[in-house]
Amino acid sequence: MAQIFPKWADEIPRRLLVGAIVFLTAIVAGVWYFFSPEYTDVGYAPQQPVDYSHKIHAGQLGLDCQYCHTEVFNSKQANVPPTQTCMNCHSQIDSQRPEEIQKIRDSWNSGEPIEWVRVHNLPDYAYFSHEAHVNVGVGCESCHGRVDKMDVVSQQEPLSMSWCLDCHRNPEQHLRPVEEVTTMGYQVENQVELGKKLIAKHNVHPPTYCQGCHY
Ligand code: HEC
Ligand code: HEC
Ligand code: HEC
Ligand code: HEC
Ligand code: HEC
Repeated sequence: MAQIFPKWADEIPRRLLVGAIVFLTAIVAGVWYFFSPEYTDVGYAPQQPVDYSHKIHAGQLGLDCQYCHTEVFNSKQANVPPTQTCMNCHSQIDSQRPEEIQKIRDSWNSGEPIEWVRVHNLPDYAYFSHEAHVNVGVGCESCHGRVDKMDVVSQQEPLSMSWCLDCHRNPEQHLRPVEEVTTMGYQVENQVELGKKLIAKHNVHPPTYCQGCHY
């Protein structure tokens, strides 16, 4: 029988396939390149409008994280405190840096909130909730590092998908009793054994399927 297509035509589907793969890879790489770095800024530490120091307040004064981040166990977001919380002390307490304390009092008198600059930022297409994590014993420290040693808060972890998944696949490495969630420098002799107990106790199932975090 006469051949309708020349022999080289057999090659077409394969070429199309390879072409499509290369094309898609380029798109994915492009997405990766343009969207990732902005959000994997380990070390990002923007200057804040007031030189507030966690090292002084959470470290030296020993204030619990929840004194200011009051909503972290009940909501998706950890709130940053209003000026009123600072005024609990700084209506009375001065410091060697009166100009910084004055900014707090100005904010209080004018009713203009202090415009704190966000440090951590996930893209909108990834879902994250504080409440879900801290109530099963994932410590602030596991994701934010030793905040009690920071004069200026900096991002400690990449907040990338693989970072999330590393913990979701091996949560026993990271769980602690819920009452230790805000403890800084928490250590236990046998982390894996404790982690496994806590997984059973809280029935912990971190999602690793795509819709767990993207929907
Ligand atoms: C006296 C109040 C106070 C206490 C106590 C406190 N914080 Fe904060 N925190 C703030 C304020 C104000 C900001 C916003 C300014 C800044 O980033 O430094 C903030 C910002 C942060 C941020 C950065 C948020 C962002 O923009 O991404 C993290 C993380 C954080 N705090 C964690 C903690 C942890 C963990 C503790 C306990 C060890 C703690 N904080 C204790 C007041 C407090
Ligand atoms: C499992 C990881 C994880 C744990 C545990 C965690 N955080 Fe966060 N935190 C994040 C991520 C991710 C963001 C950025 C969220 C976003 O951009 O939507 C964030 C943002 C914040 C912010 C900025 C406001 C916000 O909600 O976006 C504050 C303040 C904060 N965290 C404080 C805390 C404190 C205090 C604790 C402990 C009580 C804590 N975090 C525990 C991962 C964590
Ligand atoms: C529980 C009391 C208390 C609360 C609440 C509190 N502070 Fe302070 N703050 C202090 C004390 C004590 C000092 C140290 C004073 C000194 O000896 O210089 C201080 C020092 C400071 C300083 C001077 C830092 C330096 O480098 O010398 C600033 C700025 C400051 N606080 C801002 C804030 C802000 C902003 C808030 C609210 C988010 C806040 N504080 C909440 C007690 C508090
Ligand atoms: C250090 C450990 C750890 C890290 C890091 C972590 N997670 Fe989780 N995550 C957990 C654990 C443990 C659970 C299980 C909670 C349960 O089963 O009740 C969980 C549950 C969740 C859930 C399901 C609960 C809900 O809110 O619907 C989502 C979504 C989630 N994590 C998103 C993220 C994202 C996004 C990141 C990265 C930005 C992240 N997690 C980083 C430990 C972690
Ligand atoms: C535990 C939470 C979690 C799960 C599960 C998850 N992702 Fe993600 N994903 C994220 C986060 C967080 C980011 C943002 C990463 C960044 O900004 O660097 C992201 C980013 C992405 C991106 C953007 C490209 C990039 O790297 O920035 C794509 C595409 C993606 N995810 C696809 C998937 C697919 C497909 C699955 C299932 C196989 C999946 N994700 C499962 C948390 C998750």
